[in-house]
Amino acid sequence: MQPWQYEEPGEEAALPHARPVIGWPGGKTRMLQHILPLIPEHSTYCEVFGGGLAVFLAKPESDVEIINDINGDLVAFYRWCKFHLEPLLDEIDLVLNARQELRDYLSQPGLTELQRAARWFIRNKISFGGMGTEFAVSRAQPLGSRVKRQLAIRALNRRLDRTAVENLSWEKCLDLYDCAHGCFFLDPPYLDSGGRAYGGWSELELARFCQKLPALQAKWVFTFQDCEQVRDLMSGYEILGVERANGIGNNSGKTGRKYREVIITSERRAPVRARRTKSA
Ligand SMILES: C[S@@+](CC[C@H](N)C(=O)[O-])C[C@H]1O[C@@H](n2cnc3c(N)ncnc32)[C@H](O)[C@@H]1O
Repeated sequence: MQPWQYEEPGEEAALPHARPVIGWPGGKTRMLQHILPLIPEHSTYCEVFGGGLAVFLAKPESDVEIINDINGDLVAFYRWCKFHLEPLLDEIDLVLNARQELRDYLSQPGLTELQRAARWFIRNKISFGGMGTEFAVSRAQPLGSRVKRQLAIRALNRRLDRTAVENLSWEKCLDLYDCAHGCFFLDPPYLDSGGRAYGGWSELELARFCQKLPALQAKWVFTFQDCEQVRDLMSGYEILGVERANGIGNNSGKTGRKYREVIITSERRAPVRARRTKSA
């Protein structure tokens, strides 16, 4: 038996708590302390721009859960993790953490769907910032543990057991899962891009998105970069500005680099007086 394998059912409980298994630009791990207290009561939870699932994996489980993303490789990986765990783990275990492998996988992403999912994951893990393209050289941090990686994927498999995994555009996802007892967590790409992992949004797309929110039956929590455009489009709501450490390897904030973001929720409309002043 391999070190990461366990025997059901007795040892299953020894799995770690599920956490993001990939590195993802724009991931919300550093914002959890601000976001989690703002998630309203709900029974159906839908993460429309799932990415690395930082919020989904940190919040308590909901009765009904949906994760979604437009990125087909990312969603395929989560589906392999949910439905075909053992073959995925076997395939991942066959690869090394090597610069040459990253090059090889860029030119040959995989001949089968399983190979594609495993190679996509490995590229994410061994590349700079999870972008999948440049080998991550680390002088200060040890390499990620292969054993822990396998356990983390097992934990995610267990967490996704009752979760629907969708690959829809945000509009379709909102239309399909909107309901009175629902909550959407909304973390779209910012106007500056998410690097090579996904493209940044245009102002037009942001405007279409913001116009859709007031008509939803479900409650929602929306995060975005702090910019004039979003403050203007969402002026009917209270806008909470927060600052977080910015940059790869700056989790503790030691480099001093900061980034400003906003959090807006369906629950908090702007005070009426402030709205009148604006339109006067
Ligand atoms: C800021 S990231 C989300 C990060 C995530 N909250 C986390 O903690 O890792 C934005 C995500 O939106 C996805 N995305 C971009 N355009 C989309 C669209 N039109 N519909 C759905 N998802 C989209 C990207 O693939 C990306 O994973």
